[in-house]
Amino acid sequence: MKKDVVTILDNASGRQIELPVKHPTQGPAVVDIGRFYRELGYFTYDPGFLSTASCQSSITYIDGEQGILQYRGYPIEQLAKQSHFLEVTYLMLNGELPGCQQLDDFNGVITHHSMLNESLKSFFRGFYHDAHPMAIMVGVVGSLSAFYNDSTDITDPRHREIAAHRMIAKMPSIAAASYKHTIGEPQVYPDNNLSYTGNLLKMMFSVPCEEYHVDPVAEKALDLIFILHIDHEQNASTSTVRLAGSSQANPFACIASGIAALWGPAHGGANEAVLNMLAEIGDVTRIPEFIARAKDKNDPFRLMGFGHRVYKNYDPRAKIIREMCHEVLARLGDENDPMFELAIRLEEIALSDDYFVERKLYPNVDFYSGLIYKALGIPTNMFTVMFAIARTVGWVAQWMEMIGEENQRIGRPRQLYVGARQRDYAPVDKR
Ligand code: SDX
Repeated sequence: MKKDVVTILDNASGRQIELPVKHPTQGPAVVDIGRFYRELGYFTYDPGFLSTASCQSSITYIDGEQGILQYRGYPIEQLAKQSHFLEVTYLMLNGELPGCQQLDDFNGVITHHSMLNESLKSFFRGFYHDAHPMAIMVGVVGSLSAFYNDSTDITDPRHREIAAHRMIAKMPSIAAASYKHTIGEPQVYPDNNLSYTGNLLKMMFSVPCEEYHVDPVAEKALDLIFILHIDHEQNASTSTVRLAGSSQANPFACIASGIAALWGPAHGGANEAVLNMLAEIGDVTRIPEFIARAKDKNDPFRLMGFGHRVYKNYDPRAKIIREMCHEVLARLGDENDPMFELAIRLEEIALSDDYFVERKLYPNVDFYSGLIYKALGIPTNMFTVMFAIARTVGWVAQWMEMIGEENQRIGRPRQLYVGARQRDYAPVDKR
């Protein structure tokens, strides 16, 4: 029996083809079905891409059964404990951890790209006062190509690098400006003496009329949460960025498409939805009622922050965040925060319920992150914006990997057509 091929026999036609198997450095191998339609006349069908690898990548590795997450081969647990956000950002963009000078230079580049073009101020003012910050983020990020024409030639590696640095550097400034607009306070300029997360906290929470001191516990907690959210293989928003990028759209437009996809409550919007759900549950005595609703096929309600397409074990990020939750609430929030108690009880009850156990529905990264954001004083409608800031690194790294590929092609899936057969037009007086 030949190795490294999968033989497909079409019983209807008797035709048989051999498809090559491609082997990974770790994880499942793949069957290259590129010839499938040409040789057998069938499309493959996999809505939601449960069994489909859309690309090859060397950035992030996930093992859903073992609950493993690695960035460029480094276990997330080690990076979370020993590294910091901008160092991991360098790793994601360049494939290797930086030396001292490289890290210094990179810090300098990101720091000196954090300001926004002054004309953007009037753009923020154009949004209604109660606009959701994610709506502002999508609009403003999508508009950046109008300000940075000097870095939108995607065929030029230097343009790609500058656009990448600008995107990563400006996300905190855009996020903070979006927040300030919704609370009617003046935008705060970045402070080049602060760290990436310290700067974000100051731009969000300082006001011109008084001193602001960054709380080191909040700064460190945000840095850690951002590391955990940087990338996650070919999730919905990253796949959106790759597909937009495959049409050779400019990088700012591609990142805006990722922000839009992340916003959904089934994806990055889940952290906001978790807090709203905990508020709706309100008390541990009502948990059984919501568990029953989550199990009821006729009820669209799902337990937000539970379940994952890939992790059929505990999300390793949720484990790390859960531990950090205790520390942050003890230092910054209220360790007896009823929401935290409620979350712990909900997790215990859900994880002992057959419905969740059978379907391997464990808490995911979004289940606890909102509780930490809340303890840091970040409003619920900014939770997904926090996710977008960190995930911009993953989107940019994956976009650069795709654009840099040999014979990169536009992504163009096909379909199973189940609509009307051909029919003739009838004039309206004949229908
Ligand atoms: C993120 O892809 C990524 O990597 C995403 C992410 C990243 O870093 O980019 O990890 C970030 O998006 C985490 C996920 C955040 N979303 C939520 O917490 C929303 C709640 N979760 C669900 O919507 C759901 O679990 C998904 C969307 C996360 C996964 O959906 P799947 O893989 O399509 O699973 P499914 O809908 O097919 O569910 C399988 C079964 C179904 O029951 P049966 O039809 O088999 O009887 O599990 C049930 C579902 O009804 N189920 C849930 C549930 N999640 C799945 N039932 C109740 N509550 C839930 N949360």
